[in-house]
Amino acid sequence: MPNNSQQSAPILNRLVVIGLGLIGSSLALAAREQGLAKQVVGISRRDSTLELALEMGIIDRSEQSLEAIAAELGAGDLVVIGVPTLTVPTVLKDCHRLLASDVTITDVASVKGSVISAAIEIYGSMPSQLVPGHPIAGSEKSGVTAATANLFADHRVILTPEASTDSNHLKLVGDLWAGVGAIVTAMDMREHDEILAATSHLPHFLAYSLVDTLAAKGDNREIFRYAAGGFRDFTRIAASDPVMWRDIALANKDAILVILDQVMDNFNQMRAAIEGGDQDYLMDVFTRARDARNHFGKILDSKALNSPMTEKTINYRVAPGGNAQGDIRVPGDKSMSHRSIMLGSLASGMTEVTGFLEGEDSLATLQAFRDMGVIIEGPEQGRVAIHGVGLHGLKAPSKPLYLGNSGTSIRLLSGLLAGQSFDTELTGDSSLSGRPMGRVANPLAEMGAVIETATGGTPPLKIKGGQTLKPINYAMPMASAQVKSCVLLAGLYTQGQTSVVEPAPTRDHTERMLRGFGYSVTTDGSTASLSGGGSLTATRIDVPADISSAAFFMVAAAIVPDSDIILRHVGVNPTRVGVINILRQMGTSIELSNEIEVGGEPVADIRVRYAPLKGITIPEGQVPLAIDEFPVLFVAASCAEGETVLTGAEELRVKESDRIQSMADGLVTLGIHAQPTSDGIRIVGGQLGSGTVASHDDHRIAMAFTIAALRASGEILVEDCNNVATSFPDFVGLAQQVGISISLESA
Ligand code: S3P
Repeated sequence: MPNNSQQSAPILNRLVVIGLGLIGSSLALAAREQGLAKQVVGISRRDSTLELALEMGIIDRSEQSLEAIAAELGAGDLVVIGVPTLTVPTVLKDCHRLLASDVTITDVASVKGSVISAAIEIYGSMPSQLVPGHPIAGSEKSGVTAATANLFADHRVILTPEASTDSNHLKLVGDLWAGVGAIVTAMDMREHDEILAATSHLPHFLAYSLVDTLAAKGDNREIFRYAAGGFRDFTRIAASDPVMWRDIALANKDAILVILDQVMDNFNQMRAAIEGGDQDYLMDVFTRARDARNHFGKILDSKALNSPMTEKTINYRVAPGGNAQGDIRVPGDKSMSHRSIMLGSLASGMTEVTGFLEGEDSLATLQAFRDMGVIIEGPEQGRVAIHGVGLHGLKAPSKPLYLGNSGTSIRLLSGLLAGQSFDTELTGDSSLSGRPMGRVANPLAEMGAVIETATGGTPPLKIKGGQTLKPINYAMPMASAQVKSCVLLAGLYTQGQTSVVEPAPTRDHTERMLRGFGYSVTTDGSTASLSGGGSLTATRIDVPADISSAAFFMVAAAIVPDSDIILRHVGVNPTRVGVINILRQMGTSIELSNEIEVGGEPVADIRVRYAPLKGITIPEGQVPLAIDEFPVLFVAASCAEGETVLTGAEELRVKESDRIQSMADGLVTLGIHAQPTSDGIRIVGGQLGSGTVASHDDHRIAMAFTIAALRASGEILVEDCNNVATSFPDFVGLAQQVGISISLESA
């Protein structure tokens, strides 16, 4: 946040602000307080505004026109056009006539297309010195008297440079905004105008329209007197500057008309539903909207518009040493949370879930089903209520389903979407977009699904609806619960028996949960089978704590002398306990107590105490049972005496990152002898040192190196840890609770 006491070295010679409204004067004030320019000049046609600006310390010098100062300006000077949108062309004409081509020019108008068109018309082509910009900041207050030095702190500023924009001018404008505390991003002009039409312009017009409608009523004084809460919240922005909003309405006409038409359609349908007493329609709209609003809140934090859509990159700085003591419960199991939403949505009746993991991955699944018309309440402290629509009740989503970082979401969904009557497209973030999908597309194609991947067999997946699927007997080439689940879920939409034979046991949550929903699934040795055409009945699901998250603290206790950690209510399904088996074989003391079965899944408290570790050859049969725990198990191996050898784990190379390489690189940086092989790794235990390691945008790598610091000789900086939120939202809090010294810093 700008602060008087921390002046920076000037980055500009002169900052000339034309138009001292709220934005222009706040920028001038912030730049002046920060010492970003040798001189801050304000230009306004009104003497009273200039006098006030001088008096309030907003500017150093005042001028009534650009003409009065233009001859003095050259390289290193920046002119900011801070006038209403429709006045920008007039000022641009002056700039064209008066300014040398090395003076940087930017603007702050809320619409970028109209500014760029005007510049092209005036200059003949887009001038390289013009950097179109838009600070997403403001308030309903206007004018120089509303100037606030920290108006832009932590707010986003969008720059929409064109191909011809000069990089030096672009940098200067970016540096100015960053200097006043803003978060600067670049975007295509068209995209900017469409996004702003929906998220900023439309809400203003709705607020103006509502207030105007009520104000026109004869009894308006009475109405306003009693219009408290909702009216006040909804209409705050109707007190905004009318000139500014008139200009925006006209300048961004095309994008605004599109979104306005959509809202008017929605209004008309709502009107008809109210008139016709259509309770279901109203419940659907209100519940969907409420949940979408809550979902944005959860994912984007409450700052919504003003915050960047993607947060700043976070690094973990972890001090060496520390304790591993405590009695904790880690968040809910990720695999079960995904499946609870999927099966709950396809069941008839309402499924109530407790212990749901509110991580980005499972929230991506939840949002995908909302996008297909399922009403899902929550999550609220792990509680979710899913109003199931039955196996054939999903609706076509209006856009591609975005599944973020989540392999489980995309692979399981591909199976059940192959059986729908409508087309779908599944997309994800850059990590997911590089992961192999042929493993699900191939068996689905054998079943008669029409499914297209990108070149290289990666997402996006385009799935054609309306196909008749036939059952298959599938011998899986790799031990993957995701592939098994995908084929079984597609099998629900066939007539006949679908079977999957696995080369080694993999997690069986899909089979267990289907049974919990009253659907018969048989398991015979390595074959799981079900017959299509049945139905699912809603149930209650208590999701236990995730053993994959617990594993980080199990290893913490395993590597620090005198440790003692109790992990409560952890899922200990036999297909998931590889981490317990491997650590025990290495020497760790692990006791299970309070063993019970909850909804068909075994659950226990796990107590882990330190004992010296020795290196082992990990039995290949344990690999699928500990598939997600290897990053942190490699940390245990680094602290063991002797060599640990892993083979048969080539699947690790196609997880959120290539986990063999990511871990080997980081361990080598920390001074450990770690030798990757095609299907595993050899690690010789030793002294972990200090250093900076990359998470490779992989949550489990980030958390594993955080645990490593407990036995390191110096500090470990783990880069790019935002992804921890995909599976373990409060990892940092719990790590601190057991005694790990971890602090967050933005990269
Ligand atoms: C998962 C299965 C595993 C695991 C993933 C979750 C699941 O993947 O790595 O984190 O929920 O089915 P594979 O089955 O592809 O090994």
